[in-house]
Amino acid sequence: MDYNQIAEKLSHVLKPKRFKHSLGVSQSAAELAARFGEDVDKAKLTGLLHDCARSLPNNNLLQMAEAFAIVMNDVELRQPILLHAPIGAYLAKNEYGISDPQILNAIALHTTGGRDMGMLDKIIYLADCIEPSRDFPGIDKLRSLAFKDLDTAMLVAFDQSLHYVIERSLLIHPATIEGRNYLLLKQST
Ligand SMILES: [Fe+2]
Ligand SMILES: [Fe+2]
Repeated sequence: MDYNQIAEKLSHVLKPKRFKHSLGVSQSAAELAARFGEDVDKAKLTGLLHDCARSLPNNNLLQMAEAFAIVMNDVELRQPILLHAPIGAYLAKNEYGISDPQILNAIALHTTGGRDMGMLDKIIYLADCIEPSRDFPGIDKLRSLAFKDLDTAMLVAFDQSLHYVIERSLLIHPATIEGRNYLLLKQST
């Protein structure tokens, strides 16, 4: 499937607001890729597809994770919405015909992040935070930071995600802590 065919399919699969968000992530990912000399088309496609499993209800996500032998931790079992990232990677491969491991990895990591993320992983994680329809206190600062320094922007985005999770008394996914620690350790060496 090409970009337009995938967009057409997603326009039926996702709710209108989520589809608009996906187009926004696609656009922001393309801009970040251009800024940092990465593959613009690949970033655009990954951004478009990143939330392809986002409309599935929790019980489907749990069933699919079991069916696809996706190993779940306690945090994902309690908050199955997090599974839309690894299941999205699975669907991207099996329903949208994407075989590029970089694209699949970026989709799988877009919600929690993780340690040692590649350029495309960071671009998608940040594009998800800063796409044009996102609005939260500090977004302008994060937007400009993302275009200056991906790692520093990732640290701000991780902190923001942790604040969000803590304020709502949700469980913290260990991959977010690992990602944040990894970047802080890398910066101090
Ligand atoms: Fe998502
Ligand atoms: Fe998203």
